[in-house]
Amino acid sequence: MSKKPWGGRFPHETDELAEKFTASIAFDKRLYRYDIEGSIAYCEALAKAQIIPHHEKEKIIQALKEIEQEIEEGNFPFSAQREDIHMHIEQRLVEKIGAIGGKLHTGRSRNDQIALDMRLYVKDELADILNRVTVLQTSLVVMADKHIEVIMPGYTHLRKAQPILLAHHMMAYYEMFKRDRERLADALKRIDCLPLGSGALAGTPYPIDREYLAERLGFTAISQNSIDAVSDRDFVVEFLAHCALLMMHLSRLCEELIIWSSPEFGFLSLPQDFCTGSSIMPQKANPDVLELIRAKTGRVYGSLVTILTVLKALPLAYNKDLQEDKEPLFDTVDTVTNALEIMALFLTKTEVNEEKMGTAASEEYTNATDLADYLTKKGIPFREAHQITGKAVQYAEKKGEGLGDLSLDELRSFSPSFAEDVFDYIRIEASVNHRQSLGGTARSRVIEQIKKAKKELS
Ligand code: ARG
Repeated sequence: MSKKPWGGRFPHETDELAEKFTASIAFDKRLYRYDIEGSIAYCEALAKAQIIPHHEKEKIIQALKEIEQEIEEGNFPFSAQREDIHMHIEQRLVEKIGAIGGKLHTGRSRNDQIALDMRLYVKDELADILNRVTVLQTSLVVMADKHIEVIMPGYTHLRKAQPILLAHHMMAYYEMFKRDRERLADALKRIDCLPLGSGALAGTPYPIDREYLAERLGFTAISQNSIDAVSDRDFVVEFLAHCALLMMHLSRLCEELIIWSSPEFGFLSLPQDFCTGSSIMPQKANPDVLELIRAKTGRVYGSLVTILTVLKALPLAYNKDLQEDKEPLFDTVDTVTNALEIMALFLTKTEVNEEKMGTAASEEYTNATDLADYLTKKGIPFREAHQITGKAVQYAEKKGEGLGDLSLDELRSFSPSFAEDVFDYIRIEASVNHRQSLGGTARSRVIEQIKKAKKELS
């Protein structure tokens, strides 16, 4: 007969290759704390329901705590023969306290047990990620605040478009990460639901107090259908989807920092202790950290697609396929956690070349829209003002000058509506400050945005 805890009906031992193939301990040992936390609460519920006596409950809980310590101290025997973290802990429990240990699994299944572990784990990691996003947002606000005077070119199509404040640009990322936080926080509502007490799929015949379990384990909701509780991993999908968006935002920020710090732009100096060299080209300092965050976005997308594909067309209730939810989830948590931490630090150490940004902001006719707006304010329909300005740009370009370098007579040759005040109107400082619309780049508006952000962060 097989010596497995479930070996009663098996005449032989499991094939070694099959055993290795089906084992998940290599990665699910990461869940040990949640597994033990769930087992302790479940043991209390068994005692409460008078399924086990008080002294046995005490014994089991004491042994579970010792097992936790063994794992933490690295003295715990792991082996593929014991399949997963649940079996490891249960078998160790029996080793330690004998047959009483075998009572813990009464009315419980690994199916509701793993659903519980996963939810506890995601809840914890989600809270940690939320904190890290806040730290990153703080770095962005600090950078915006520090450089509130700095004007830079704003881009569309990666061509200079209109002057903006660097602070305005940084605060755009603040808003993106704010939505990422909101999405994750919202997902928590659905993650925060107790599956334990669902048994294998049909519920449990024992009078387990699920309300007690929920309270004891810190869940605000209790699953209302035992089949759903052990079958679905939509909460993992949701979490990964929000992480994918978060990484997408991070990758865009990385890309911009890479471009801006290139010698061709020269807007930023990256912290040298966060850059790496080339094995052949002695002059190089490469933005590897940023490139890696940008690239790791791909693995998070991959994880999302993995879990979606695992779940697709999976019949209810539990199937071993669900074991494949763990590695993509763990990998995503590690990736996002590390990326957020390093990015927050990176930003605080990045230096801004204010002069270079300012000069670049006034080049290449970034004030052309302002020239058209000037004419529009004088009563010329915008479409016409656009045409007139286009011609003025063409003329200035041929002369190799900016719009502000043209004489009033030259400007008036395109429209008699130009007057002396046009020159003030099209200065880049004025261009920025004209944009007083809510959310616009005018300094007073950006200061408002920063103020609001500081309040949100505190
Ligand atoms: N290791 C399994 C998983 O991660 C635990 C649940 C196993 N349940 C079962 N009936 N085989 O999904």
